[in-house]
Amino acid sequence: VWISIGIIILAYLLGSISSAILICRLRGLPDPRTEGSQNPGATNVLRISNKATAAAVLFLDVLKGAVPVYGGFLLGVEPVYLGLIALAACLGHMYPVFFKFQGGKAVATAFGALSAIGWTFSLALITTWLLVFKTTKYSSLAAIVTVSLAPLYTFFLKPLYVQEVTMLSLLIIFRHRDNLLRLWQGEEGKMTSKHRSK
Ligand code: G3P
Repeated sequence: VWISIGIIILAYLLGSISSAILICRLRGLPDPRTEGSQNPGATNVLRISNKATAAAVLFLDVLKGAVPVYGGFLLGVEPVYLGLIALAACLGHMYPVFFKFQGGKAVATAFGALSAIGWTFSLALITTWLLVFKTTKYSSLAAIVTVSLAPLYTFFLKPLYVQEVTMLSLLIIFRHRDNLLRLWQGEEGKMTSKHRSK
């Protein structure tokens, strides 16, 4: 149990390292929390930078979700705690202790953490996201639809984790409340080639 609690705390701390903020600082770009959608995530970094920088943010954010969960798994942590580790990493990303608790929406971090559920599940998430994104060009809508379906996919593929995945999905939807409002009002920015957006 102590190992599990230790990893939960480490997962939160790792999640708290905002790659979007750090990479933007390193590259001399503005803080993503003051530009575009004001979200420190790969989507918004793409708006203020380029594909390579956004891809680096995406990769690191996925990694910080994956590392603690896979690490916990390898150390023989029980399933219920693995779910808590995933939640902790995402809460770190959303409410980072190192950045005044102003974090992101944890879409990439949740994907990294939940990829441990399996290949079919990960593929289902990626396919859903891409389908919605390709048809609508809204990154936020793609994430909202994907996390809304994630509990259903979990129910069929790894029912053991339905509760924890549902909690994570609700949290991520809650973090998209501004996006939901903008989508409703028709003001959400599409990710077209110019990446101009709110
Ligand atoms: O992953 C975050 C995405 O769903 C929305 O990002 O910047 O459009 O609010 P953003």
